[in-house]
Amino acid sequence: MMGIILLGPPGAGKGTQAKKLTEAFSIPQISTGDMLREAVKAGTELGKRAKSFMDAGGLVPDEVVIGIVKERLSAPDCGEGFILDGFPRTIPQAEALDRVTGELGKEIRFVLSLDVDRKELMERLCGRRTCTACGAMYHVAFHPPKAPGKCDKCGGPLIQRDDDKEETIKNRLVNYNKATAPLLDYYKGTGKIRTVMASGEIDAIYASIVKILQ
Ligand code: AP5
Ligand code: MG
Repeated sequence: MMGIILLGPPGAGKGTQAKKLTEAFSIPQISTGDMLREAVKAGTELGKRAKSFMDAGGLVPDEVVIGIVKERLSAPDCGEGFILDGFPRTIPQAEALDRVTGELGKEIRFVLSLDVDRKELMERLCGRRTCTACGAMYHVAFHPPKAPGKCDKCGGPLIQRDDDKEETIKNRLVNYNKATAPLLDYYKGTGKIRTVMASGEIDAIYASIVKILQ
């Protein structure tokens, strides 16, 4: 049972590393950010509720996010493990996760804390591009697609995320420091936390993560 939490500020590379781990370990990526963006796009009740918080770079209320994660973790494809990307993000979410994994007989094995300096985070987020068709991630300078604006994997169109504007990014970073950084202390005593130096090459960071997991 390989339950993994990827913890780190906006732009730390949670999504990038989660996608690589998903392929290699055949366990699903559970990204609350991706699920919420899908709900916004589909115009569901959940999406309507979440949109204003996301546009402002704020956090969506705990009970909303906890509900979707609980449901997702109950799905059969989480039987061998899962990679939580962007959840938990507050102490109440971490407490709820402990309860839910207990109820479902699942276990978190590692909490990987991705450590990147703030200047680099800003550069990463301002240049990020995402494929609207398959979700693959690029960066205009650090990880450019072969043809501009077009996904290498599926040919789909690449877009910039709505919340990747400088002002919104600043709010996301403030909220990370305020609400999410305290989780490092929450997990300190559990023996599960590992710090990953997450500046540098994507593949080198991935290799250091794999080393920890083995
Ligand atoms: P979410 O989608 O989770 O956004 P985030 O936490 O701000 O993180 P990002 O997705 O921006 O960054 P990432 O760490 O995944 O980095 P990435 O791999 O893309 O959440 C969005 C919003 O949803 C929140 O603001 C909130 O409103 C809501 N929400 C979500 N979860 C919630 C929760 N649990 N509770 C409440 N609200 C919630 O990389 C970034 C860029 O850098 C890419 O372009 C990539 O190609 C590039 N890159 C990656 N690694 C490297 C590297 N090593 N070197 C150079 N470039 C790199
Ligand atoms: Mg992400």
